[in-house]
Amino acid sequence: MGKKIKTNLIHFGSDPKKHHGSINSPVYKNSTLIFENYKAYLNAKKQKFNEPYYGRISTYTTRSFEKIISGLYKSKFTILTSSGLSAITLTLKSFLQKNDEILITENCYEPVFNFAKYELSKAGIKVHYYPNNFKNLNKIINKNTRLIYVESPSSLNFNVEDLNLISKFAKKNKIITVIDNTWSTFIGCNPIKHGFDIVIESGTKYLSGHSDNFLGIITTKSKNFYNQIKKTTVRYGDFVSSESCFSALKGLKTLGIRMDNHSRNASEIFKFLEAQTIVNNIKYLPDKKNKNHKLWKKYHSINNGLITFAIKKKGKIEKFIDNLKFFKIGFSWGGYESLILPLKNLNPTKKITTNNKYWFRIHVGLEDVNDLKNDLKKAMDIYERQ
Ligand SMILES: Cc1ncc(COP(=O)(O)O)c(C=O)c1O
Repeated sequence: MGKKIKTNLIHFGSDPKKHHGSINSPVYKNSTLIFENYKAYLNAKKQKFNEPYYGRISTYTTRSFEKIISGLYKSKFTILTSSGLSAITLTLKSFLQKNDEILITENCYEPVFNFAKYELSKAGIKVHYYPNNFKNLNKIINKNTRLIYVESPSSLNFNVEDLNLISKFAKKNKIITVIDNTWSTFIGCNPIKHGFDIVIESGTKYLSGHSDNFLGIITTKSKNFYNQIKKTTVRYGDFVSSESCFSALKGLKTLGIRMDNHSRNASEIFKFLEAQTIVNNIKYLPDKKNKNHKLWKKYHSINNGLITFAIKKKGKIEKFIDNLKFFKIGFSWGGYESLILPLKNLNPTKKITTNNKYWFRIHVGLEDVNDLKNDLKKAMDIYERQ
C-alpha cells in the first residue's frame, strides 16, 4: 500500500477480484451464517472471532472494515461497536472490577463522566479526575489503579495531554492506557505510535461524516486486550450493522479532503471571530495564543472544524442563536454541516461560574465560508441591537 495515509484511505478495503470487478465491496447482511459441515461448525465455534460464526459477532463487511481500521492505525486488532459511547463504556467494563481505581481526565466528554458517576460507582470502582497536563499522576495512583483514560484534544475546551508522558508513566506502573482520539481521527494523530494500549474513536463524527451513522472503534496492538474487550462486547450483545460499516467506508474515502476543508473554513471563521468586539474568548488550537497550542502541534498534524467561543452577555441568547441560518443547533459534530451548541460548562466536573458571557461550541462545516461569516455577522448584529 501507499506510504501516505490519504492514499491508503482511498485504496484500503477495495477487492474487485473477489467481487466481480466491483470497486466497492458489497454489503453482506447476515444474522445466520451457514457452516459447511459439522467439522466446520466445531472449528468456527473454537475460532469465533476469526471465522464466520454469527452475524452479531461479525459479518464479512464488519470484519473487512475492522481490518481497514487496523491497517490505518497500524494496530493489529479492531473491534467495532454500536456507537462511540459504547466503545468507551465497553472498554472500561472489560478491564475494571470491584475495588479497582481509574484515572479519568476531568475534560472528558460528559456521557463518560455520567457513566463513571452512575455505573462505575455502582460496580464499586473508584474514579479520580485529573486536570489537564497534570504533573502529579503518581500522587493519585495506588496498587488498585488499573486504567488511565485520556481524551485529547477534549471535545469542548480542546485541552491537549502529553501523550508520551502519560503512556510512559502508565507502562512503568503497569496501568492500561485508553484514549479517545475522536477529535483528530487517525489522520491527525496516532496514539498507538505514542505508546497507548487502546485507541477509541467515535466513527459517528468525521469518519462517517454525513450525520447519518453511528459507529464506535476500538483498536489495539495487543491480542490479550483485543480478546478481553471483544468478549465483553459479545457478552453485552453490542454490535454494529454491515450497513453502518458500508456507510462509514464511504465516509472514509473522502475523510482526507473533508478534513482539509473543515480546517480551512475553521481558520477563516476563527479570524472573523477574533475581529468581533462582542466575542471575548476563543478556544482554537491553531491559535498560537492558545495554552495548548505547542502540545497540540507536537502530536497533531491536522486541525478540524471545532471552535469554542464566548460572547459578552448583552440580553437574550436566543437573539443570537435563533437568528443563525446555517449554523444549526444540534448535538454531535464531524458531519458536512455547520452546527452550534450553547454550553453550560466546558468540562463536566465544573460549572461555568462567570455569568457575563454566553459560551458556544461551533462545528464549521463545508459550506462557502463567506456565507458562514455573513450568517454569524448578521446574528451578532441583531443580538447587539436587542
Ligand atoms: C469526544 C467524543 N467521544 C465520543 C463521543 C460519542 O460518540 P457517539 O455519538 O458515536 O456515541 C462523542 C460524541 O459527541 C464525543 O464528542
